[in-house]
Amino acid sequence: MTTASITTPVVRSARHGGVLCITIDNAPVNAISSAVRRGLKEAVEAADADAAVKAILIVGEGANFVAGADIREFGQAPQPPSLPEVCNRIEACGKPVIAAIRGAALGGGLEIALAAHYRVALQDAKLGLPEVQLGLMPGAGGTVRTPRLVGAQAALDLMLSGRHVKAKESLSLGLLDRLAEGEDAQVAGLTYANELLAQGAGVRRSRDAQGLADRAAAQAAIDAAKADAAKKSRGLFSPMKIVEAVQTALDKSFDEAVKAEREAFLACIESPQRAGLIHAFFAEREVAKVPEAKAAQPRKLESVGIVGGGTMGAGIAVAAMDAGLPVVMVERDQASIDRGRANVEKVYDGLVAKGRMTPEAKAAVMARYTGSTDYAAFKDVDLVIEAVFEDIEVKKAVFKELDRVCKAGAVLATNTSYLDIDAIAASTSRPQDVVGLHFFSPANIMKLLEIVVPAKVSADVVATAFALAKRMKKVPVRAGVCDGFIGNRILAVYRQAADHILEDGASPYEIDAAVRGFGYPMGPFQVSDLAGGDIGWATRKRKAATRDPKARYVEVADRICERGWFGQKTQRGWYVYPQGARAGQEDAEVLAIVDAERQKKGIVPRKFTAEEIMRRYMAAMVNEGAKVVAEGIALRPLDVDVTFLSGYGFPRYRGGPMKYADMVGLPKILEDIRAFAKEDPLFWQPAPLLEKLVAEGKDFASLNQPQG
Ligand code: 3HC
Ligand code: NAI
Repeated sequence: MTTASITTPVVRSARHGGVLCITIDNAPVNAISSAVRRGLKEAVEAADADAAVKAILIVGEGANFVAGADIREFGQAPQPPSLPEVCNRIEACGKPVIAAIRGAALGGGLEIALAAHYRVALQDAKLGLPEVQLGLMPGAGGTVRTPRLVGAQAALDLMLSGRHVKAKESLSLGLLDRLAEGEDAQVAGLTYANELLAQGAGVRRSRDAQGLADRAAAQAAIDAAKADAAKKSRGLFSPMKIVEAVQTALDKSFDEAVKAEREAFLACIESPQRAGLIHAFFAEREVAKVPEAKAAQPRKLESVGIVGGGTMGAGIAVAAMDAGLPVVMVERDQASIDRGRANVEKVYDGLVAKGRMTPEAKAAVMARYTGSTDYAAFKDVDLVIEAVFEDIEVKKAVFKELDRVCKAGAVLATNTSYLDIDAIAASTSRPQDVVGLHFFSPANIMKLLEIVVPAKVSADVVATAFALAKRMKKVPVRAGVCDGFIGNRILAVYRQAADHILEDGASPYEIDAAVRGFGYPMGPFQVSDLAGGDIGWATRKRKAATRDPKARYVEVADRICERGWFGQKTQRGWYVYPQGARAGQEDAEVLAIVDAERQKKGIVPRKFTAEEIMRRYMAAMVNEGAKVVAEGIALRPLDVDVTFLSGYGFPRYRGGPMKYADMVGLPKILEDIRAFAKEDPLFWQPAPLLEKLVAEGKDFASLNQPQG
């Protein structure tokens, strides 16, 4: 017999014999909104009181169990009941409660499942406590029930990594009681529930589980996690809170620990890091929503051609092959294509050497690779990516060849960093097929892919580029054509600001330290040494002729490059790297060069605190970011944010430069720019958009409206 009732529109109950099935139905991922919490609590209470109900089953509608708390509600006034209350009510139930999991059981979703008495999952289930990635910690008993169920070490690993655990591993960890076949969580859950009833199985509460019984082992795991978090989670707020919560779970009663967890969770909710990380989460999903992807369907994409097998060509080839795509690479001559293939193989050999790939798996991937010196090899490919030297004439010649050999409808893409893609497109008879695909180095690792949209490209080509990004698991950002697109254009400006600070008195080491202190993994001078100072030098020479003669130009980097000091690869740059060391040491000779340049210009060096350095650095970044948005080079401020988070090492917990500016307050940023402009009005020209937003009392977030 089945009887149905609806508690709230997002939670419904139906009785199947003695088992009441509660379904959470809150598309798209059954996130726990206040209505879900209310509905779930009421449904469980009703079931507990109903003599006809012998057991309770909780499932999610559709492809997921529950993806966690509704992130959109954070920061708003909390509505009762709280999730810990709901979980406690589920656990306290006098009848067996079973959770049947399909797809995601994450964060609060897993906490609901852990509050249930039994857990069954389908093969596609992924379980996890990813709150840490949002600047949070589990806040509904997760820090207390998980260690009791699976031990402190496994629980800390789950909560500090935030990783998603597949069904099989979840079973072996003890998060699950059984795995089931099929695709219907309700069927699997009912089967299990009826079996449990037939066995006379009673309630079994996670709060009574004995995973912390070996106190010494638990304490050792907590101590190790504490040391590890102090090292790896530099600058982050919530990891230590997680470790402390597990300590409390070990030291105090269950109820006291849950209470302490809630307080710590609310402190995390209040932290600016939570605001930054949740902005990053939504922004990364929003970037793919571009007008072209809505207006058109992607073209067929089953094979990829790559021109050039250097640093970028090889990395892009690996990214494509890892995505399961066959790759044809074309180089200038036999020696170059041999090198191109070797560059590709080197990546996989590295994985084999580290034991992260078997030689057989390498052979299987390499079977997707073909090298050639003849452009005719591209005649059947669906999309070609050009990655030859950064020279417009060389690129135009390559595109003429592509125009000649590629089939009609093939997408022709360039990986140029700076060059005019409209001009490249104009060198073909099919500009509607030409797009920019700006990968970042190393292309098989870096997540960012700028999709650069020239004037004449057709919407389905842009849609195809976004489809490629998804297939390669890249983070795509739509950019307009200009020198450097979004990322490199803004980078050029804040790098200049860093050079000005250098010449005015701070050492490169002080600037790098300030930037690291802000949360970047490296400072700008370290990055230059890593990438090779010669790259920037070549760009500066290329632009010398068109540089405004009135603009301030700092020559220190040129002086360093003239000595052949290009950074790590020459064992010397802004730092020295004795015997090829990866970590640089400060160099008194570099400081002498800086001093000499100051003297030449009659600059008396002054002191900069780390805060003063960062105010200038960030003001330059934000100001140029505002110009990029106003010109339509970036669709929205959030596209600038994602560019810097995914491609330039911007600290994720700050949400990106534009989110950072909103959090500091735009009037304050503008005030700084105006103050700096007194020294150098040409460089520090306030972005009109920034002035407008300040005048209207608005922030950048007000421009992050959904597209189309
Ligand atoms: N709250 C609100 N919306 C959410 C959400 C959540 N927890 N999780 C996902 N969404 C939204 C996304 O923003 C997206 O919306 P859109 O279609 O309008 O852009 C939609 O759901 C689909 O999400 P994805 O595009 O990410 O879909 P995928 O299928 O690729 O991935 C997922 C699904 C694995 C569930 C992924 O969305 C995810 O990892 N979600 C976040 C999970 C998480 O961090 N949970 C913890 C929340 S904090 C918590 O629970 C606190 C508790 O301890 C008290
Ligand atoms: P690279 O010098 O390592 O490789 C270029 C390759 O192109 C060489 O192997 C060369 O033999 C080949 N080549 C030159 N002319 C060719 C032709 N006519 N036909 C076929 N092959 C030809 O250069 P890199 O670093 O890989 O850069 C390539 C492109 O990627 C450039 O446009 C660069 O601006 C861009 N880029 C570079 C990044 C980097 O960090 N190196 C980052 C993002 C983009």
